[in-house]
Amino acid sequence: MKREYSCVLVTGGSGFIGSNFIRWLLGPSGYSGKVVNLDALTYAGNPESLDDVATAAGARYAFEKADICDRAAVEAVFATHQIDAVVHFAAESHVDRSIHGPEAFVRTNVMGTFTLLDVARQAWKGRQDVLFHHVSTDEVYGSLGDSGYFTEATPYDPRSPYSASKASSDHIVMAYSHTYGLPVTMTNCSNNYGPYQFPEKLIPVMILNMLEGKPLPVYGDGKNIRDWLYVEDHNSAVWTVMTQGRLGETYNIGGENEWENIQLLGRLIEIVAQEAGKSVASLRSLITYVKDRPGHDRRYAIDCAKLKGELGWKQSVDFETGLRKTVRWYLDNPLWIEHVRSGEYRNWMDKNYGAR
Ligand code: NAD
Ligand code: TYD
Repeated sequence: MKREYSCVLVTGGSGFIGSNFIRWLLGPSGYSGKVVNLDALTYAGNPESLDDVATAAGARYAFEKADICDRAAVEAVFATHQIDAVVHFAAESHVDRSIHGPEAFVRTNVMGTFTLLDVARQAWKGRQDVLFHHVSTDEVYGSLGDSGYFTEATPYDPRSPYSASKASSDHIVMAYSHTYGLPVTMTNCSNNYGPYQFPEKLIPVMILNMLEGKPLPVYGDGKNIRDWLYVEDHNSAVWTVMTQGRLGETYNIGGENEWENIQLLGRLIEIVAQEAGKSVASLRSLITYVKDRPGHDRRYAIDCAKLKGELGWKQSVDFETGLRKTVRWYLDNPLWIEHVRSGEYRNWMDKNYGAR
């Protein structure tokens, strides 16, 4: 039987995955309840990503600007809304930033997750008809060689400040399930891509640099491998676990779609060339190998047999289609791009990377 909710608190709902999730939940998912988006609007959060959704949803959508580390603010959100499920996306999410400044990652990902969990436990007072769903990453499992896959049983072996902070939050979530009986589920997913992704991650960085004729910075030898998952497939997987997953369990979500970075870039160049009317040769000439990321994980690849076998989920968007939709979205949304690249983010990029 599927669990049902009437008021879902989405943390980090103004970020990349969270905004896509809310758009989908209030739209095609079939969910008829309310969504509360709790977001601190860091450099990575942009409320404009949901302007149209907020208007269309009316009273079914509420926005609460709050920091998950601020206990009183989170308590106030629980006091205001009759929340019966939390889906926790809010995080510092970029590995490169975690190398430059790990403290924010420990603060938000560890302390913030703890604070949110503790407020939920207090507010729900032992209720079992509620759920705390934690969104985590495959990066907690470390780095693979040429073969093998991450399963839910793979021992944790995080290597970056980002993945270490996410691993830590995962353990706290599971501790709240075991110790206090808080109903939780968790998902660990591979690299998401799609519309509204902040232009610091590989795919949007490359698309925007191609459009602007800037160098395409490939870290190291370009042969690191990631398993790419279209964000809409991630949405449906998270909701499947929230409504049908076994409590206290982790489910891995992957695209079963492994690409070396340099291979992916080749494909992306062809699509941008077609969609933006540029020559493949001129775009290829922008490829620039740069110094490798310290501690750069070599390969991530997810075995998602548990999710597919137990809950019947499967991916629905192939890579070619997903990449093309993503490229089109960035071509069609110059104002969104301009807005997210202004202000604090621009200052940070200039300080750490110069004119990139
Ligand atoms: P993002 O960086 O695009 O968005 C993060 C959001 O969280 C932003 O809206 C930001 O304002 C908000 N936020 C940050 N700190 C906060 C705080 N202290 N209080 C309240 N809000 C805060 O991230 P994303 O790519 O959408 O990732 C969402 C989640 O998915 C994260 O938990 C991340 O670890 C996980 N994840 C992402 C990927 C990926 O490929 N992007 C892969 C695996 C797991
Ligand atoms: P990223 O999108 O930062 O995700 P993650 O590090 O969480 O997997 O990076 C994806 C891959 O692309 C990773 O191997 C690092 C590499 N990369 C580049 O080569 N150049 C870039 O400019 C960026 C941002 C990433």
